[in-house]
Formats: sequence, C-alpha cells, structure tokens
Amino acid sequence: MNHFDYRDGELWCEGVALSAIAKAVGTPVYVYSSATLERHFAVFRGAFEGLGLGEPLIAYAVKANSNVSVLRTLGLAGAGADTVSEGEIRRALAAGIPASRIVFSGVGKTAKELAFAIEAGVSEINIESEPELDLLSQIAAAKGARPAIAIRVNPDVSAGGHAKISTGKSENKFGVSFAEAERLYAKASQNPALRPLGIACHIGSQITDLTPMREAFTKMRGLVEHLRGQGLVVERLDLGGGLGVPYFNQPSPPEPKAFAQMVAEVVRGLDVQLAFEPGRLIAANAGVLVSEVIHVHQRPEGRKFLVLDAGMNDLIRPAMYDAYHDIRPLKAPAADAPLSAYDVVGPVCETGDTFTRDRLLPPMAAGDLVAFLSAGAYGAAMSSQYNSRPLIPEVLVKGDAFAVIRPRPSMEDMLAAEPLAAWL
Ligand code: LLP
Repeated sequence: MNHFDYRDGELWCEGVALSAIAKAVGTPVYVYSSATLERHFAVFRGAFEGLGLGEPLIAYAVKANSNVSVLRTLGLAGAGADTVSEGEIRRALAAGIPASRIVFSGVGKTAKELAFAIEAGVSEINIESEPELDLLSQIAAAKGARPAIAIRVNPDVSAGGHAKISTGKSENKFGVSFAEAERLYAKASQNPALRPLGIACHIGSQITDLTPMREAFTKMRGLVEHLRGQGLVVERLDLGGGLGVPYFNQPSPPEPKAFAQMVAEVVRGLDVQLAFEPGRLIAANAGVLVSEVIHVHQRPEGRKFLVLDAGMNDLIRPAMYDAYHDIRPLKAPAADAPLSAYDVVGPVCETGDTFTRDRLLPPMAAGDLVAFLSAGAYGAAMSSQYNSRPLIPEVLVKGDAFAVIRPRPSMEDMLAAEPLAAWL
C-alpha cells in the first residue's frame, strides 16, 4: 500500500496534489511520501514480531534512495543503514543514524574508506575477500582498534530476476565460498585486531520467489552451526536485502510476513541476532517521478511518440534493466477515455532513452503531466547529468506539507563545478 492516489480528478501524494508540486518546483521532479516510507519500514519490522526472533537490525540499503531527508525519516522510525561507500556512511551519520546501526558492505572498499568506517565505529564491516580482510586488519592494528566484521558469503544460488542485479552465484564478484568463509572466519578469530561478529549474504534484488532465499539462508544456518562447532563465536546473521516489490503488471512478490515466516522456519532455535538490508522494498513505491509532456509526435507512418522532459539520465532503470514503470497522467482520465499506444521517450540523444513502447494511455497533449510510479528506489540515486541536463530536484511530502529536499541546480551551478584548466 502507498499514499499516491486519485482524488477530485487528480493524482495526490498524501495531502498534496502532485500538480501543485510540479507548479511550485517545476518538472521533472522526484516526489516521495513520508507516510509510505514509514509504513513500508513498519510493515517489514512488524513482520518479525511475535516470531521469537528478537529485534532484528533493519539496515535500510542507502543506495536505493540516499537523500538525507529520506534517511532521517527512516532513521527516526528505527532503521539502521546498509552502506557501500564513505559517502553513504557520511549520509547516514548526517541523517542521525547511529554508527551502532550502520553496516558497511561493498566489494571494493578502499583503505581510506575502511579507516573512516573504523573511526566512525560502524556496527559491522562486511568482508568480501581475503585481501580485504588483510587490509582491514592492518589498518585496525595500526589504529589499535578492533572493528566488528562479518564475512560475506556467496551462497551460489540463482535468485532469478535480471542478470545485472543477481549477486548470489559464484561467478558474480560478491563474497566468498562457504569453504573460504570458514577459513577466513577462523583466521579473523585469531587476529587481535578484528572481532568476528557473524556472516552475511545478499543474493540479488527484486526477488519474487522465496525458494532461492530459503535455500541460501538454510546454507547460511549450516555455516553458523559449523563455525560454532569449531568453537568460534557467531553472534549475527545478516541475510541482506533483495525482497521484490509489486511493480504494476509484474509478478507479485511475497509479502514481508511470508518472508519473515520463512526466515523464522530456517533459523529456529539458532540464537543469533538477525540483520536485514532492504532497500527497494522500503523506497520504491514511496516515490514517483513527475514529468511534463513536451510534445506528442505522431508519425504519419504509424508510431506515436510521447516526448517527455524526463530522460534516461533521470530514470535509467528502463534503459538499463528493461524495467517496467507504470505511467499515470496526473489528471485522472475519464472512465470512457479511449486508450492508444504511445512510445514514451525522453529528450536524450540515444535510442536507449525509451521508457517503454506501445504503452496504452488516454489522449495526451503537450503540457500534460505524468507520473512514473515505483520510482522511489534506484531513481534519483542512479541519475546523472548526461546531455548536460542538471540533476532534477527531490521533494518530500508529509501530510499536507512538502519540502524541497534537493534543489534543482541552476545552469550556473553546473558550469561553476568545472573550472577551466589554467592554460585555457
Ligand atoms: N545489500 C546489498 C549488499 C546490496 O548489494 C543491495 C542491492 C541491497 C542490500 C539492497 O537490495 P534491495 O533490497 O534494494 O533489492 N539498481 C538496481 C538494483 C541494484 C541492487 C544492488 N544491490 C535496480 O534499479 O533494479
């Protein structure tokens, strides 16, 4: 459930008509609902209640939507943060998320980033390879610190979904095998500069079937028991993110309740603190991208293009993953409005800047406004200023109030970011 719906013939976000935001801030613009962010977090957390699993650490995956106001909204609701760079750690801290709820993941953390994470005192550094373990141990020893680590295991299961976002097969770059994890965990346990806290996995994103997750988590349970059998201490089991969301017209993913039930069955009696890293589940359906129709180009030969002021640089998911986003006019169409097929495109100079082909929409005209739904995750966070189109603003709604939480840079701002070389 989300807080975007039609009322009085218009699409609203909570108590604000999206057209009012478009008027005040201009288009294209990302708009997020506080109530939906809070609800998604509460639903995910609530799913674990009463299952005898204790209080899991729910570390929201910052990469999905890293706006500081979004992070603060979630932090106030009790979320931690799963981060993959110094920048993301800094954003989480700036949003008031305590280091004790921050996880640092990622396949290529630099020495500078590891040093920063140690100084910040993050709760868990996920180690993805032996060279990374050795690098962290050197840095920690030099600082006289003892950071808590988890070994990221690659469970070698196929999670389905798009190949570009599948991470849990052994040919993917993430994590180490079970055998390696056992060796590295024992090695870290011998090292006075490291505190092995647990093991972690993350097998992919937009997963719509619990079967591969159950398979991976069962293997992870086996590893916890095996390590403990060797006399090693394992306190935390981080099961990553990846649970899919309902994108209109796509296979429906399982509810968080069913996910939590499956986890409870797998880890029953294990006595570990659980951690999760959901990103998309929290943010995707809490955001829309509002865009204006520049013109409708009807080719005499047939195809009809809906040319928008938003482009692939603003929302790259369709170009990159063939992702489907529902597109809704801001003005509710009449119930009997005839539908016709549009190719919805942006202004960027490449064919990949096509959001969708043959989408059935009511009659559209220049100046009309549309919203791309489910754009709150991996939308603004993956945007760029390709074609010298400045990044677009982000707006957060709460009740009947809204705030610009990232202003639109001016053309002058964009140019000022690039000083000329002294010899030019
Ligand atoms: N934890 C780790 C270690 C991850 O790599 C990811 C996502 C997550 C958690 C959060 O996964 P989620 O719950 O959001 O599925 N840009 C792509 C998705 C890339 C996901 C990368 N890793 C997209 O737009 O579909």
